[in-house]
Amino acid sequence: MSDEHAMRQDVEKRLKTNTDAMAGPFRQQFHLMPPVGLMNDPNGLVQWQGVYHVFYQWMPFDTGHGSKWWGHVTTTDWIHWEFMPPALAPVQEFEKNGCYSGSAVVHENQLYLFYTGNVKDEHERRTSYQCLAVSRNGVDFKKYGPVIHQPDGYSAHVRDPKVWFEAGVWWLVIGAQRCDREGQVLLYRSPDLWNWAFLGPLAGRDVTFSESFGFMWECPDFFELEGTRVLLVSPQGLEAETYRYRNQYQTGIFTGAFHPETGTFTHGGFRELDLGFECYAPQTFEDEQGRRLLLGWMGVPEQQEQAHPTVSDGWVHCLTVPRELSMREGHLHQQPIEEYKQLRGTHTSTTVAVTNETAAWASWTAAAAELYIEIEAEASWTMAWRRYFHISYDAGEQTLTFERPDFETGEPEQRVSRVNGVHTLHCLFDHSSAEVFVNGGEYVSTSRIFPEQEAAGLQFAAEVYAVFYVHAWELQSLQWQ
Ligand code: FRU
Repeated sequence: MSDEHAMRQDVEKRLKTNTDAMAGPFRQQFHLMPPVGLMNDPNGLVQWQGVYHVFYQWMPFDTGHGSKWWGHVTTTDWIHWEFMPPALAPVQEFEKNGCYSGSAVVHENQLYLFYTGNVKDEHERRTSYQCLAVSRNGVDFKKYGPVIHQPDGYSAHVRDPKVWFEAGVWWLVIGAQRCDREGQVLLYRSPDLWNWAFLGPLAGRDVTFSESFGFMWECPDFFELEGTRVLLVSPQGLEAETYRYRNQYQTGIFTGAFHPETGTFTHGGFRELDLGFECYAPQTFEDEQGRRLLLGWMGVPEQQEQAHPTVSDGWVHCLTVPRELSMREGHLHQQPIEEYKQLRGTHTSTTVAVTNETAAWASWTAAAAELYIEIEAEASWTMAWRRYFHISYDAGEQTLTFERPDFETGEPEQRVSRVNGVHTLHCLFDHSSAEVFVNGGEYVSTSRIFPEQEAAGLQFAAEVYAVFYVHAWELQSLQWQ
């Protein structure tokens, strides 16, 4: 077993000495990211005694994957943040190859973290344990080791426990792969958070549908939203289609009804959460105001991540902005949380009318900006941000396309989706990301972008005639202590 104290000291030192990461041009202003190393999934999202805790998968030593830690940051208002000591370091036998993703709940005034202990032997054979760590102060976590072992009939790919309280008991879902390589979500129940009974698969092949739907389902989340039950999950292995499943791995939802008496879920089809390039392994939680908030990883495993220009600065990836979820006409909507309005600086508005040609709004120079755009268009239109990221609507095909240069080849790459009209675009642009909330959050697109430093402004084009009513704000930075 490694010496945890020495490892932690090494990590602290790295945090203090990585000035490249801090100075790089693609450092984000209003997104959570670690000072150094690779970040992936948000973990353990919870609000406890007013304080929001965001944990995340973190490889502090380099920009690759590997034995993950749980990084930890806190805030009370989503604007002022504090870096906390890492919550979990992979030092025990039952987690030696990574403290993998999981969740948090508050019980009897203590914070309970559930996570997956990832273990590999000398032949790269994997074992997964669902583990528990408890904290009295929200800073120091005492590990109690595995509370759930691998169930029969499943491969060692069982991970990412999400825990919640409902109908007088505790529940837990984990992502799983059957021995015959079919993805499923498994359901457990507990009276006390320590003793867990396996109730069986909740969703997946031969449970809620008959066909194959990916070889592994990661990071499940299962919650009630305004009377609708939502299973949020990241399936791996869906085959790409023209308008769907174009990223390496997918994230999306099944909506329906949960029957706690039988531990069963009835649901409809799968809907992708995001129409862009990078949104994976999101997690939600209910805050003390009763809002259902979501943070995602602005990355996708195995998707060109070493081609990100930030790798040479010693860091890679970040999280999405926090989003509030709602259900409107049976559709999940996402909106940036209200608190982010506090980041708004200088405001400008303009109206751009385009007839059969291109118009530019070149005077806009800020790289971190919020744009709210109402569109009146007779036919197709296009908008470009900093000459790098293009959003276009094809009125004939009824498709919405997001386009950027491929990180490796520089050739244009696109994500095209069928949509039911586009009336408004609410964009949050940071130095190296673009999040677009369409029609009040009916559709969302999340992407990393790496424009030239000097590239600025907005360009518009329309097939026939279009008017863009633009409200723009420069956005301030999150404040770090
Ligand atoms: C999703 C994931 C999880 C796993 C974690 C490891 O991105 O693969 O399933 O717990 O990342 O970092």
